[in-house]
Amino acid sequence: MKPIISPSILSADFGYLAKDIEMINRSEAGWVHIDVMDGVFVPNISFGFPVLKYVAQLSQKPLDVHLMIVQPEKFIPEVKALGAHVMNVHYEACPHLHRVVQQIREAGMQPAVTINPATPVSLLKDIIEDVYMVLVMSVNPGFGGQKFIEHTIVKVQELRELITVTGSQALIEVDGGVNLETGARLVAAGADVLVAGNAVFAAPDPEEAIRALRNL
Ligand code: DX5
Ligand code: ZN
Repeated sequence: MKPIISPSILSADFGYLAKDIEMINRSEAGWVHIDVMDGVFVPNISFGFPVLKYVAQLSQKPLDVHLMIVQPEKFIPEVKALGAHVMNVHYEACPHLHRVVQQIREAGMQPAVTINPATPVSLLKDIIEDVYMVLVMSVNPGFGGQKFIEHTIVKVQELRELITVTGSQALIEVDGGVNLETGARLVAAGADVLVAGNAVFAAPDPEEAIRALRNL
């Protein structure tokens, strides 16, 4: 199976965001990845809902919203209003993760749980059958253009095994430092969805970079 490519607009040109969304629309990208940061859960602030309203209007691809914020459940109505396909919340930000997952589903979106590099896959055992997807962070969240953490490959293998053993249908998405080299190894380890920021937007031909990742 070819991986779904979810280009991260965190690395797009914010001065000409419409141009980059139109490029994603024309490309072989399956989704568009949207990184919301609050300066509390992560040491950076990206963009919020007033900006994303326009991204949602322009995008012809389903929105893959990654919330790097505390209390993400507070924003379920705002994410729903964008028409998002997936709402990713961090395991580390949700003491009542099971409740949040149900609330996201009740709102008509697909719930995904995201784990930071130091959070073990084994902690997902009691939620894996309830989620549409697990997002494995392969960098510490907060910034684009960081170096891929090698141990992620092992985590993706462990997650693939957990999914097989439990009979879960969950997809595996990986985010951070994904390029053609790390992407190929992630797909071999069992990843279904690849997020790519720098590898797309710093490429001489971003549309071609998406096509190359898609055809790994
Ligand atoms: C990091 C974000 C990522 C980021 C990935 O906190 O969650 O989605 O945009 O960027 P690259 O692909 O450049 O590592
Ligand atoms: Zn992300």
